[in-house]
Amino acid sequence: MRVLGNSPTLFAVLIVCLLLHVVEAQDEVRERTGAHLFARQLSCSKQKGIESKSKSDPVGAANDVLKIKDVLEADGDLWFSNNLVSGTGDDEQVPWGHGAEFKPTPAALGNYLSGYALIPDSFNGFKLNRSMVFRTEGSKSVKVPFYVNANYDADSIERVVLIWPGQWRDSWKYINIMGNAQRVAETHDQLNIDKSKILLISPMFFNQKDADSGAAGDDELYFKNAGWAVGDTSRGPSGFTNVSSFEVMDFFLDHIFDKSNFPNVKHAVMAGHSMGAQATQRYALFGKPKKAYRDNISYWIGNPGSYTWLDEKYYNSSSSCDSASKWPFGFDHAPKYAEKKAKNKESTISRYGDRRILYSFGLNDNGGQSDRCAPNTQGPNRLARGALYVKSLKSVFGDFPSNQLVDFVECVSHQDYPMMAKFRTLEFVFSSRTD
Ligand SMILES: *[C@@H]1O[C@H](CO)[C@@H](O)[C@H](O)[C@H]1NC(C)=O
Ligand SMILES: *[C@@H]1O[C@H](CO)[C@@H](O)[C@H](O)[C@H]1NC(C)=O
Ligand SMILES: *[C@@H]1O[C@H](CO)[C@@H](O)[C@H](O)[C@H]1NC(C)=O
Ligand SMILES: *[C@@H]1O[C@H](CO)[C@@H](O)[C@H](O)[C@H]1NC(C)=O
Repeated sequence: MRVLGNSPTLFAVLIVCLLLHVVEAQDEVRERTGAHLFARQLSCSKQKGIESKSKSDPVGAANDVLKIKDVLEADGDLWFSNNLVSGTGDDEQVPWGHGAEFKPTPAALGNYLSGYALIPDSFNGFKLNRSMVFRTEGSKSVKVPFYVNANYDADSIERVVLIWPGQWRDSWKYINIMGNAQRVAETHDQLNIDKSKILLISPMFFNQKDADSGAAGDDELYFKNAGWAVGDTSRGPSGFTNVSSFEVMDFFLDHIFDKSNFPNVKHAVMAGHSMGAQATQRYALFGKPKKAYRDNISYWIGNPGSYTWLDEKYYNSSSSCDSASKWPFGFDHAPKYAEKKAKNKESTISRYGDRRILYSFGLNDNGGQSDRCAPNTQGPNRLARGALYVKSLKSVFGDFPSNQLVDFVECVSHQDYPMMAKFRTLEFVFSSRTD
């Protein structure tokens, strides 16, 4: 008190500082409530700093994420997977859409829980192609339907974006929002997009409920539940019960790089968000694209809910969970398609370090806690899992892999289109080079 008593100036300065602090804290509260921020989410301005750091220093940015208050707490009640972008974030243009036209996704009949009766056929410059024969055994053939641009000149295609659906098996939606993202990319002059050179393809992964409800035709491949996302085998039609969903992607990559289909193609980008991102990460690790074009593929992985984890060091050691080391979370008990690569764990991981990958994580994507122990062993929520995964990449490879990039996206939650329309995703998906 003596110091203060003797120094009215210092006292005044302290009071002003205190007041400023209160004002700042109030601003923070306003920003949080006004923009629907919830516990364990930084203000957007603080998130911006992490986003820009992630461009040059992925591991430093991951460390910043892990310092967010309580981000590693497993207490589910306080989590809220909220959206800062209006609507669901995939039904209208985002603020960073650069004035591009946004075309809404058409509706399907049915839903992913009870099965689809009818899926969209033709919309917004895309169409459903149901004539692609995937395999023939004896006198029977099986087809895999896929969405693709309605009009294109195969001779001019140089880049194909191959898109997984999300949990809803909604390939029509994913090709449509990727089409919207492409229109945003076209407005960025520095990306120099020539749309005549780009083709989008999104195969359908039906399941047994779609076969029962009518959307899947008698000669069309279907899987069981969500097994398609982790390389499981098909369940029908009869005669075709042993096809891995990853073989379907091998098939499409073969189709894309076959010069008799696309004489000038040089690059394929496999892309997925959420469950599609889980599929993409696992395909990047266990997929078997041919060597001739293996290095011409890059992978966009947006907001996955879990990973095939590379490094037990980054498991949550306080969780005792046997299934954490088992497929699809670990390398044990891999399905037939991935058996050999899972057995050769070291070389499989080492090759994964060469893959060209952009991981995009929404900094508000702090939901996704699981009922199962294995995803929780990777972290208590999607954002934490992503940050821990980024750290594990450095620990596994010594340095962070030079072909891999990270984008922690400011103030976006578990929102597919807002993630796709971000500049760094656009740059990676539509204009990055392979050499
Ligand atoms: C590890 O799991 C425990 C128990 O579920 C949880 O309390 C803790 O927050 C978790 N830590 C991390 C780093 O995920
Ligand atoms: C479906 O795609 C295949 C492969 O590109 C093509 O040969 C076939 O003509 C297409 N079918 C229709 C109806 O567009
Ligand atoms: C799948 O089944 C077909 C015939 O039923 C068989 O020819 C083929 O070898 C099987 N493939 C695998 C990977 O088991
Ligand atoms: C792979 O990309 C390189 C560089 O763009 C290109 O020269 C090569 O032809 C591509 N390979 C295939 C199989 O498309």
